[in-house]
Amino acid sequence: MKLPIDRFKELRTPFYCYDLSLLRSTLQVIKDEIEGYPFVVHYALKANANPVLLNEIVKTGIGADLVSGNEIMAALEAGFSPSRMAYAGVGKTDWEIETGIDNDIYCFNVESVPEMEVINEIAARKGKTAGIAIRVNPNIDAHTHRYITTGTTDNKFGIDVPVLDEVVEKAVSLSNIHLRGLHFHIGSQITTLEPFRLLCEKINELVEHFEKMGVKFEMIDVGGGLGVDYENPEQNPIAPFHDFFNVFKQSLKLREGQQVHFEFGRSIVAQCGALISRVVFVKENSIKKFVILDAGMTDLIRPALYSAHHKIVNLTSQKQEQEIYDVVGPICESSDVFSTDEKLPITRRGDLIALLTAGAYGESMASRYNMRDLPQCHFC
Ligand code: LLP
Repeated sequence: MKLPIDRFKELRTPFYCYDLSLLRSTLQVIKDEIEGYPFVVHYALKANANPVLLNEIVKTGIGADLVSGNEIMAALEAGFSPSRMAYAGVGKTDWEIETGIDNDIYCFNVESVPEMEVINEIAARKGKTAGIAIRVNPNIDAHTHRYITTGTTDNKFGIDVPVLDEVVEKAVSLSNIHLRGLHFHIGSQITTLEPFRLLCEKINELVEHFEKMGVKFEMIDVGGGLGVDYENPEQNPIAPFHDFFNVFKQSLKLREGQQVHFEFGRSIVAQCGALISRVVFVKENSIKKFVILDAGMTDLIRPALYSAHHKIVNLTSQKQEQEIYDVVGPICESSDVFSTDEKLPITRRGDLIALLTAGAYGESMASRYNMRDLPQCHFC
């Protein structure tokens, strides 16, 4: 992504910098890949709901994948069409369900029978029919961080395959819901295509099984999860959409008129954002040198929460000579560490530092812990 260092010099740090032209190119790649296929793409707002980014994304006509009532409101405000909104989550409250029904969203991705009953009840009260998909837990290991694996039986998401017959029958029997299809999401930051291939096999089996029971699905939602390159973002600024879509083009046995829905978060916005901060101090003890930034885990929590590594670049120092540092934030928590044993050019107080690939789950997960200000944002 573009990093206009001269512009950064006057700006107060820390801030997120977003490259809108890279975002546009990423969206164009997706558009080109799905052209001619019955594929519908949604953007998962949880990755980043910055209104300027939403404004770019909504222009392409893609839908929205939502996980709270407030996200539904933000998507409406940004101009996403309710007919392209899917709403997932294991704990939808009554007002959130009402918000979805009042706005006639396309689909509730339902995660349990009690939830399905409540949606039916609320829809009946309003004299409406709510579109739903049943979120299936396919028990496929996405081989990603355990906090972002969602499709195995030991986590809270979806409905297990062995009880699916009963749940589908129940959905068909309720008069104020309309069963549109099945929903899957097996995890996030998935960097091999094998889990997606296994997912296609599982979907084919299930579609065939339910067809025999006389149940047809108008759509299959395969979720998100496509990983991005955190280690070489400059070489790979756009996620491997071509190979990813090919898996679904080749492996899914679609029925006449059936659509496939995708819910991308990270792969759309991650590479378009960087967190820019300044070095407050460089400090040394008997075994280590620390670069202490004015950005911390309140601005970008991924390293502290998932041991994620974001590529770190010193934008100021051109020095050839390098040193090994622990790059840390100012928060009063030992986990407020961006990287240990990071090789950087000799770094000084005041240097500008970029943490790359921070456009997804960066700003959206920021907090005010330690009464810190939320990070600012700028666009290039
Ligand atoms: N659909 C559903 C139902 C989801 O739960 C998620 C993400 C997505 C789509 C979008 O997945 P993506 O394309 O972004 O992988 N905070 C974590 C990631 C949590 C993902 C939660 N669900 C991180 O920073 O790595």
